[in-house]
Amino acid sequence: MKKIAIIGGDGIGPEVIAEGVRVLAWFRARRGIELDLWHLDLGAERFLRDGTTFPDDVKRAISDECAAVLLGALGDARVPGFEHARDILFGMRFGFDLYANVRPIRALADSLVPLRGRSAKDVDFVVFRENTEGIYAGIGGQLRRGTPDEIAINEDINTRKGVERIVRAAFAYARQNGRQRVHMSDKSNAMRAAHELWQRVFAEVRCEYPEIDAQHLYIDALCYELVRDPSQFDVIVTNNLFGDIVTDLGAALQGGLGVAASVSLNPEHPERVKLFEPVHGSAPKLVGLGQANPVATLLCVALLFEELGFREAAVELETAIAAAVVAGETTPDLAGSLSTRGVTDAVIARFAPG
Ligand SMILES: NC(=O)c1ccc[n+]([C@@H]2O[C@H](COP(=O)([O-])OP(=O)(O)OC[C@H]3O[C@@H](n4cnc5c(N)ncnc54)[C@H](O)[C@@H]3O)[C@@H](O)[C@H]2O)c1
Repeated sequence: MKKIAIIGGDGIGPEVIAEGVRVLAWFRARRGIELDLWHLDLGAERFLRDGTTFPDDVKRAISDECAAVLLGALGDARVPGFEHARDILFGMRFGFDLYANVRPIRALADSLVPLRGRSAKDVDFVVFRENTEGIYAGIGGQLRRGTPDEIAINEDINTRKGVERIVRAAFAYARQNGRQRVHMSDKSNAMRAAHELWQRVFAEVRCEYPEIDAQHLYIDALCYELVRDPSQFDVIVTNNLFGDIVTDLGAALQGGLGVAASVSLNPEHPERVKLFEPVHGSAPKLVGLGQANPVATLLCVALLFEELGFREAAVELETAIAAAVVAGETTPDLAGSLSTRGVTDAVIARFAPG
């Protein structure tokens, strides 16, 4: 039995997560996958109601009992300080040391690829984003705030251990999944101290994977090449900030935020809980309209099946999602006319009877 914590979160989060839960429940009922779905009341509503963000007992239970967390999105204008989002997201990413944010970037249909002359076969790569350090580590401060002499600093934290483990995770993934090439991206020509460490680590780790074609691109060149010819990429590894940016560029290449899925995990501890999240945010303007695209969340469920060892279910689900998208059975962001629920119905209708 796999226990899965379900957190809808804010905005469209609960709407898309409800569709993910429908699909999880379908596979539990029809394919015999033993899942214990644990619904958690966390997010802005809860925070505004009683001040709760991410209680210690919940955090401990997730760590001790759960195989996965499925999280919608966090972000609500009524909580401008992001207190709840910070506690919940960082509580898991940092608290469980989920140092690899893994973003498969695969276009499901030719029509989703925005580049002239390119088709779905050209967009199929995976980004490994370092998830626990870099410029998001929270080290910094402000001096003389609000004065003309103000100083604002955030430090870019790169540890030997942190860089080495994410670079190795990218190579290991490439080897395990038959990927030919790993690109490491940094800005070592400008950030000569911090990113020279990435260069040295990359030069060492690549020797352990002689069969993998190891390449380097500065982050500016990577962005240029991703748009010019995405087909040259298999696996990309980079730091937290660059990964954040490059994965949104990747989302655009695969058809938009409505179809971008992610998992945060600790490759050195595969038994540890894994965090599955659609890449998009809470999309406040879409709330309640029934137009939020559930595909990113459904792809998260497919990724969850894959990561938890239910390979057949993962393939069945991803195949059905792709078929629905190719048939144009989509929400308006992908030029379709179906509702959030209607898209899930179109996916479920493609499963073999069971
Ligand atoms: N991981 C997270 O929880 C996360 C990520 C990004 C943003 N946020 C938060 O979400 C809030 C809104 O941020 P934003 O507007 O910059 O980003 P967003 O991802 O919510 O929206 C960006 C654009 O994409 C569209 N979009 C997003 N998801 C979609 C979906 N499933 N279907 C159809 N269209 C979709 C939106 O309508 C909007 O036009 C903010 O509070 C932000 O902090 C949270």
